[in-house]
Amino acid sequence: MVTPEEQQHVHSQEPQQPQESQQSQESDLIEARQQRLLQPLPSAAILPPGKLEEAKRIIEGDKAIKPFWVKKYKNEAAKNWNKFYQRNETRFYKDRHWIEREFTIYKEGASGKEDESKPHTMTCLEVGCGVGNFVFPVLDKNPHLFMYACDFAPHAVELVKKHEDYAKGRCSAFVCDLTKDPLTDTIPKDSLDVISVIFVLSAIPAEKLEAAIKNIKEVLKPGGMICFRDYAIYDAAQIKFSSNPGHMLDTNLYVRQDGTLSLFFSVAQIQALFEGEGFETVECDYVHRETINRALDINLDRRFLQAKFVKK
Ligand SMILES: C[S@@+](CC[C@H](N)C(=O)[O-])C[C@H]1O[C@@H](n2cnc3c(N)ncnc32)[C@H](O)[C@@H]1O
Repeated sequence: MVTPEEQQHVHSQEPQQPQESQQSQESDLIEARQQRLLQPLPSAAILPPGKLEEAKRIIEGDKAIKPFWVKKYKNEAAKNWNKFYQRNETRFYKDRHWIEREFTIYKEGASGKEDESKPHTMTCLEVGCGVGNFVFPVLDKNPHLFMYACDFAPHAVELVKKHEDYAKGRCSAFVCDLTKDPLTDTIPKDSLDVISVIFVLSAIPAEKLEAAIKNIKEVLKPGGMICFRDYAIYDAAQIKFSSNPGHMLDTNLYVRQDGTLSLFFSVAQIQALFEGEGFETVECDYVHRETINRALDINLDRRFLQAKFVKK
């Protein structure tokens, strides 16, 4: 069923602001203190056979909205993210404390060994940093890190700069559209130890991903690491989009009610993208998280993709 709000959203000039956005529901599902199951799945088996067929049927039965709207949503991505932050300020995303558990490089440094006597003085970057829900927890736990942070939504960058910990001089935030503004305008070439790419490539249409990855690579030092996490194909959010036609822009790319985009990745696609730009895959796999939404009394299969790539 398409709600009147969704229908209007897709066909009106200005994306409508929903009562409770799809993003909000997604975030709640990811972050809320609900019963969870976290387990890596073998690449070939991202859904059990029965569920996979049902998901394929729904997704393959969906079709893209009119080209005019596809173009408009793709062109207005930065504007719509900026509106998102003007509306939600810092209230939307919860701090991503889990990242350090998943990406131990921040704690251990490039040596892979935790050594209290030798602090790891690494220089890192978070691309698509939002309001700093990853940046500030990492800086807090790792006193010898310096973190650049960029986003193409100017209001998000303003909020990062207003954060009480920003003043400590260990972070530098700037506005940058990864798909067209050279990161080397701000960061020395081949200089960074780690770049985190967390739920940002899913906001970029597939045809612009190569440019974004090339840009990121320029500022990473040889041997430096990319920490990647994002939405995977057949995630419950994708099935929900395709169950309510009127959101699909391209294969695996959808528009939310607030005009922001969401792309769902396969292991093969992400690996090909990074390896195509000269990265070596350290790990790249699906992560399954079963989330029970008690309010709606539903059980959702969230599928993410988590990876580490090293610049050769
Ligand atoms: C889902 S949010 C994730 C924020 C943050 N990485 C986190 O995990 O909390 C995606 C972010 O990517 C930013 N973004 C999307 N496309 C971008 C682009 N082409 N260049 C820079 N930032 C972008 C959006 O403005 C938004 O802040």
